[in-house]
Amino acid sequence: MEDKLKAIAREAKICLDEASDLKKLNEIRVKYLGKKGELTKVLRGMGSLSAEERPRIGQLANSVREELEEYLERRTDELKNKELEERLSREKIDVTLPGKPCMLGKMHPLTRIQGEIEDIFTGLGFNVVEGPEIETDYYNFEALNIPKDHPARDMQDTFFTGSEVLLRTHTSPIQVRTMEAAAPRVPLKIIAPGRVYRKDDDATHSPMFHQIEGLAVDYRITFADLKGVLKVFAESMFGSETRTRFRPSYFPFTEPSAEVDISCVMCGGKGCRVCSGTGWLEVLGCGSVHPRVLEISGYDSEQYTGFAFGMGLERITMLKYGIDDLRLLFENDLRFLEQI
Ligand code: PHE
Repeated sequence: MEDKLKAIAREAKICLDEASDLKKLNEIRVKYLGKKGELTKVLRGMGSLSAEERPRIGQLANSVREELEEYLERRTDELKNKELEERLSREKIDVTLPGKPCMLGKMHPLTRIQGEIEDIFTGLGFNVVEGPEIETDYYNFEALNIPKDHPARDMQDTFFTGSEVLLRTHTSPIQVRTMEAAAPRVPLKIIAPGRVYRKDDDATHSPMFHQIEGLAVDYRITFADLKGVLKVFAESMFGSETRTRFRPSYFPFTEPSAEVDISCVMCGGKGCRVCSGTGWLEVLGCGSVHPRVLEISGYDSEQYTGFAFGMGLERITMLKYGIDDLRLLFENDLRFLEQI
């Protein structure tokens, strides 16, 4: 038995020496040291040994096992190192090569312009607030002085989700919500950016777009305050040479109402394709808050006055970057977005 053990040790070492990869080493481990391996087989036969011989052979078997395990470990290290070295000599890394640039994301143009607009107005003392996109008929229309049969409802093709529930067609409901919550506290100065929904879809209209609402309520607010604020806005947004023009208009929730044009950002007012030769670009609607809207929202219209405005974020963004198709802003085509 002793001879047998020594033979196993010798044979196993030779095999380990000859093995050229880790897989072979493992096979040898199983063959000699495994549960059904050579060594175990010998140990099984120990029953036939005499009581004096048994401890000696047992000890020998253990030392053979230890010896082989150590040997195996050494060979494993050797082969691992060899494989590593081979790989290193194969895979030459040129540390002087330029690195692979990783794609850097950036803000969507709409998000960027929204941030710029918020900066301008917060600089003028306005707070940024938000309101729900799913709105009630009351806040979207009624409280804004647009009763059920009013023709002004036709201007805003509406997605109704129930008879009194709809996707807001503008951010103006936030005027009422904000006043209701604050009344009769003044001064109230907020802007409210957000998504709005109308049932139309072409190169200049999307069923979902963004507006930014503005509202100021205080003692003695006049139309002149509105003009001043919007002039500062236009100059900050489009450059100090930008001129503004107020044209009379109509909104049920402001009186008087106006539409604001800025001098064309492309031609500076001379007339070009972008401004259809007029030199002016329409950018927003505005006016003095209608007394009825003030009253409905909890403000005494004898004491307080206010102004409001609403602009389309897409329109401002398109003018700012010279984009001629609104849909480009929603397709998320990186070839387009990366140019901005
Ligand atoms: N809500 C109006 C629109 O969507 C814009 C507007 C806002 C006009 C505030 C006046 C005052 O067309």
